[in-house]
Amino acid sequence: MKRSKITVVGAGNVGATVAHYLAMKELGDIVLTDVVEGVPQGKALDLQEAAPVEGYDCAITGSNSYDETAASDVVVITAGIARKPGMNRNDLVDTNVKVIRSVVKEIASRSPDAQLILVTNPSDVMAQVAFKESGFAPERIIGLGGVLDAARFRTFIALELGVSFEDVTAFVLGGHGDDMVPLVRYSYVSGIPIDTLLDQATLDRLVQRTRQGGAEIVNHLKTGSAYYAPGAAIVQMVESILKDKKRIMPCSAFVRGEYGVNELFLGVPVMLGKNGVEKIIEIELTQEETAALHKSANDVKRVFSTL
Ligand code: LAC
Repeated sequence: MKRSKITVVGAGNVGATVAHYLAMKELGDIVLTDVVEGVPQGKALDLQEAAPVEGYDCAITGSNSYDETAASDVVVITAGIARKPGMNRNDLVDTNVKVIRSVVKEIASRSPDAQLILVTNPSDVMAQVAFKESGFAPERIIGLGGVLDAARFRTFIALELGVSFEDVTAFVLGGHGDDMVPLVRYSYVSGIPIDTLLDQATLDRLVQRTRQGGAEIVNHLKTGSAYYAPGAAIVQMVESILKDKKRIMPCSAFVRGEYGVNELFLGVPVMLGKNGVEKIIEIELTQEETAALHKSANDVKRVFSTL
């Protein structure tokens, strides 16, 4: 069986953590690239040297050039700057858009059949930029957002109830920003709706903590943003694509009329398989939930329009 090839662009904390989880799950051969000399090579070799101990058979290569990335099946793009305390994700757009434009050009020409996962923030906007720059079908561009935000919401629910993290499922839609929409009505503990287990004030508090989940980590770290939960979320997306699992998860995908939003990358429930976003699922929303989703969509649209 031919091994999959996965490129991770950006060998910072998020990129290196993605490579680590990818290797632990033995999802394919991995190329880690970065503009900084030595860092991708050093981190890749270090991860390779863990292979005999952990027992994974993946080739892990580090490089400053894009040539090694050719013919990748999936490319995870994490390059760019992360926020510092007091910044929101949109504050990064002017710097990161330049990075993403050049990365996507290099990647698209060498891996014309790849699925691209955009992680660099603001990720919905960067997915839109990658769509324009790559010329790829929109189904092959996926932004990180909901899987990470839902992981945080699930964590907070599990901690509050003192139940297994595994048993909690949740949906967070909208852009991966301060206006994201955690959906209490679609969140469960082993099939039990959480609004039958927690009172409204508690639910409101957990929703608010989820919205600020990224900032909470930034405020602790001070010099950068989260990477373990983002890395795990990204690898779950990669796995669903490479194994054609067709998992349903909230990701930033190109909506064309779904949820009353047109031609925009926005966090919605999607089916992820070997062809990327194979389906966008429209779940029923209340008026209030729809309004919150549109507010979030307008924020993504506004930031994109400044470019
Ligand atoms: C976060 C960054 C990755 O939410 O956006 O932690």
